[in-house]
Amino acid sequence: MANKLKLILSESAPTGDFATVCLIGDGARIVPRLEKAEAASLIAAMGKAQFTGKSGKTLTLYNEDSTYLLVGIGESLEAGLDAETIGGKLFAALETTAQKRGHMPDHGLAEDVMADLLFGARLAAYHFEEYFTETDSAKESVSLSVTASGINDEHALIQDRNALFEGVAMARDLVFEPANKLYPEVFAERCKTLAPLGLEIEVLDEPAMQKLGMGALLGVGQGSRRESRLVVMNWKGGGDEAPVALVGKGVTFDTGGISLKPAKGMEDMKWDMGGAAAVTGAMCALAGRKVKRNVVGVIGLVENMPDGNAQRPGDVVTAMSGKTIEVINTDAEGRLVLADALHYTETRFKPRAMINLATLTGAILVSLGKEYAGMFTNSNELAALLSAAGERTEEKLWQMPMGEAYDKMLKSHIADMKNIGGPYGGSITAACFLERFVEKTPWAHLDIAGKAWSDKSTPTVPKGGTGFGVRLLNRLVDEWKDVKRNEK
Ligand code: BES
Ligand code: ZN
Ligand code: ZN
Repeated sequence: MANKLKLILSESAPTGDFATVCLIGDGARIVPRLEKAEAASLIAAMGKAQFTGKSGKTLTLYNEDSTYLLVGIGESLEAGLDAETIGGKLFAALETTAQKRGHMPDHGLAEDVMADLLFGARLAAYHFEEYFTETDSAKESVSLSVTASGINDEHALIQDRNALFEGVAMARDLVFEPANKLYPEVFAERCKTLAPLGLEIEVLDEPAMQKLGMGALLGVGQGSRRESRLVVMNWKGGGDEAPVALVGKGVTFDTGGISLKPAKGMEDMKWDMGGAAAVTGAMCALAGRKVKRNVVGVIGLVENMPDGNAQRPGDVVTAMSGKTIEVINTDAEGRLVLADALHYTETRFKPRAMINLATLTGAILVSLGKEYAGMFTNSNELAALLSAAGERTEEKLWQMPMGEAYDKMLKSHIADMKNIGGPYGGSITAACFLERFVEKTPWAHLDIAGKAWSDKSTPTVPKGGTGFGVRLLNRLVDEWKDVKRNEK
């Protein structure tokens, strides 16, 4: 990961050629206290440029000896998404100034507003540059010095947002990595780097999974030269309470297997581990923030390749739960990985709830486009918690139906079930398949196939790997309330 933004929190203004960053409210209201003459000339310049302080609009003014970067905040600036968006826009505008250096004098803003604004700026400044051999660091780096009363690097809110940023950045990095560099073993090694945060990390290799009877997960990985892995990340911040479990699909590359995908766009399947990345990033953030809860993250890591040892359409595999699956389409592999990961998690950890994330189906893009992730659940109470967390982090979820009529479509003539349903409702039958591997726990499945990668940037999410899910899960754990399954 690289961050284009150097943030300096300091009580005094830096010396040198810095743009003065001013937030401007509706009606060209100058938020920081400036000297009278300085304010008067700014007001005159804003008038000329017809800059009124509308939220998110920016204006850069240059004269012989100073530069001003004005950022509109509208009526007022609230903590949360509002402040993050302004921070993101501030970064983007600062990057286009001649100096690429700014100083924000004290604005007298609340500490949570400042912390969120700076968090937004950092999210916007994320970029992945691992594989460029030439980087012009002088050209790329932007610095922002901030003077705000009470705000420094040790401030609890700044540290909290920094830990959350680290989690988002880790997930984005994992998603950006190409599949020749990031395969199951390498992903597992990255997880191990989280141990210093106080996370217990366990890595199960193929013999260990064989012993547990994970035939569904192992069947997907058997056509790859790369070995499969299952990683458990355990955060024990909540004493002896049952944990909330987060489970992720980590297909480091999905060729489709013998049911080979078309060539066009296949490169996108390097991010078929977006669910596992979200779980890993969330564990990083929760541990970094030292949350007082127990949370366990479990990710199934495999590569879906079509070699001579690959599983064939029609093969029957036995999952860890003992159920048999007829693999009709080897490209419906994510559900096979999750079947074993979910059963393992439920039986070993007896979690209070289980939430899995997966880039599971192309069909979810057909139904919801790229705005919402699909949510499938056996608990309306869990749906309400997740939806609220999604709205507050702008990682939005839309609940989809499930039920017996869909579940029936998984009937097989030679095994307990087949791994695909009929031609329609593909995301729903996939969810029904997963539900068959959850016995009694409140559970939700988030299909993030439309959200893990983005071709468009927003103020706080640059193009590419989005890290979708990290902020949502982090918020969910913060606002956790116990949930029950729906009555049958
Ligand atoms: N990884 C894909 C789903 C996917 C598609 C993720 C597009 C991101 C973008 C998944 O493993 C898959 O191939 N699903 C199939 C299922 C089908 C064979 C029933 C699909 O969606 O076509
Ligand atoms: Zn697939
Ligand atoms: Zn897949």
